[in-house]
Parts: sequence; structure tokens; C-alpha cells
Amino acid sequence: MNNDAPEQIHLPYFDHLLELLSQQNPAVSESFGRHVHWGYWEKPRQALLTAADFAAAAENLSAHVCQAAHLGDHQAVLDVGCGFGGTVAHINERHQGMRLTGLNIDERQLRRAREQVLPLAENSIAFKQGDACQLPFPDAAFDVVLAVECIFHFPDRRQFFREAYRVLRPGGYLALSDFVPSRLLSPVARLKFPAWRFYGRCNFGCSQKDYLRLAEDTGFTLGLVKDITQNTLPTYSYLRRLAAKRRVGNLSAAFETSVAEALSRSGLLNYEIYSFQKPGLAKKP
Ligand SMILES: C[S@@+](CC[C@H](N)C(=O)[O-])C[C@H]1O[C@@H](n2cnc3c(N)ncnc32)[C@H](O)[C@@H]1O
Repeated sequence: MNNDAPEQIHLPYFDHLLELLSQQNPAVSESFGRHVHWGYWEKPRQALLTAADFAAAAENLSAHVCQAAHLGDHQAVLDVGCGFGGTVAHINERHQGMRLTGLNIDERQLRRAREQVLPLAENSIAFKQGDACQLPFPDAAFDVVLAVECIFHFPDRRQFFREAYRVLRPGGYLALSDFVPSRLLSPVARLKFPAWRFYGRCNFGCSQKDYLRLAEDTGFTLGLVKDITQNTLPTYSYLRRLAAKRRVGNLSAAFETSVAEALSRSGLLNYEIYSFQKPGLAKKP
């Protein structure tokens, strides 16, 4: 493994992706060179499962999370767990006067983000290495904090919520997407499991009720809860097709993705978008 890979977190799927991207694998560049998330298929029943379709779904998920955060022009935005900078790029291409910051624990991903995502007119972009649970930013520095499909990797959701609250201005929004266990699954999902071989350490134990409590305990008010599970399901078929056609997967990837698919299709594990607001009047600096 590359020396820049952080010691406190090991996500084998990113090692795999970075390796394939370094070999200029076209299928992987097309599907995961920008966003590394499940996507939002607008019309799941009519999904064509092409690479272009998946790219559009990936863009849509970022759009939905941004919308949940009431994102607008001239804002300071922190994208935590920013991956290769896909959501930062999405915002950069659609808004102006933005101060955009992507934070990731893995410097290797940030190197790609810095190469790929350059600021458009009137925007500024910085990619910074750091831990979501110890945000390296002063208090009240951002209007919006985003965490797209990454919170389940963080060492402590509560600590992340405290940190997001601290770095948000009064009136600011935190928006995120996460895999959320149903009431039936949550007692099991809360148990401590060893890290997955392909996806690494994932904690899928935060139920909707837990999120509401987390918001209350950390001072946030709940904005939105949206179950978008149905809009993510074609991704499983897409990944299967990609693995079969282009031989980009491995056994652990196939097995762990099938477990997630079975749980999602049976309604035990949902995919949800949340937004939370820090109370107070939004003030511009
Ligand atoms: C599924 S990827 C999502 C990436 C990106 N948000 C996207 O949608 O394309 C999860 C990301 O969380 C990052 N991550 C995991 N633990 C982290 C932590 N403690 N602090 C910051 N980033 C973290 C990983 O490095 C990875 O980039």
C-alpha cells in the first residue's frame, strides 16, 4: 500500500480503485473517476445501466444532497469525505462566488482531486487532508457542511456531528447521505463487526431514530429525511454488469456488494438523505 494511505483507516476498495485509475482503466475512470457513491437514478425502473446513465445518477445524488443543504451561490461549503472531489466539482460547475473546501483522510485521493477539479470563475477550491472527527477549521467557518456517503466510515458519528456544528455558522446546514438500518435490522447492525474485506470498516448501525437523537443532542434541528433506497437499486445491477464485462471486481467485492443488495432490496437497509440546521440567523462575514 502507498505510504500516504492513512494508518487509522484502511479502505481496500479505494486501493483497488486507485490502482485501476493509475492504469487508466476506462471503465473505472468513467464510473468512479469523479464520484465514488451509489448515485440516484431518477427513474429506477427505466434505468438503462449504461456508463452514461450511471454518471448521471452519480451527479444526481450530489445534487439531491446539495438541495437538502439549501445550497446557493456565494457560500462557504465544506465537503467532508470528499473522495476524488466529485461533489466539489458538481458545485463548482453550477454555482458562483463559492469558497469550496474538500476534506479527506486519504491524501492519495486528494492528489487526484487537486488535479481533476479546478476552480471556475469566481470560485475558490481547496482540498485538505484531515479527519472528519477533528475538523481542521475554525468555528463558524462554513455555511454548509456536506458528507456524501461517507459517515459510516467515520470513527464516531456523534463527534462528527459536534464538529460539523462547531464549524457551521448559525443558520447553516449539514446534509448527508447514509445507509440506515430498519427497526428490524438496527439491533444487529449496532453490533461491532470486523471490517469488510473490500469496503473496510463500515458502521451501518445508525437508525433514523438514532439520527434524530444525535441531532437533538448536538443542538441541530432536523431539516429533511428522505428515503431514496429505490433510486439506488439499479446501481447493484450496474456494478454486476461492470464486474462481469470489464473484470474490475474481485470475490470480496462481489460478495459484500451482494450482501448490501440483499439487505437493501428486502427493506432492511435503507439509503437516506438527511439535513440538519444549526439554529440562529445566517450572517455573512
Ligand atoms: C464512499 S467514499 C465517498 C466519497 C465522496 N463523498 C463521493 O461521494 O464521491 C467515502 C469517503 O470517505 C472518506 N473517509 C473515510 N473516513 C474518513 C474520515 N475519518 N475523515 C475524512 N474522510 C474519511 C474516504 O477516504 C472516502 O473518500
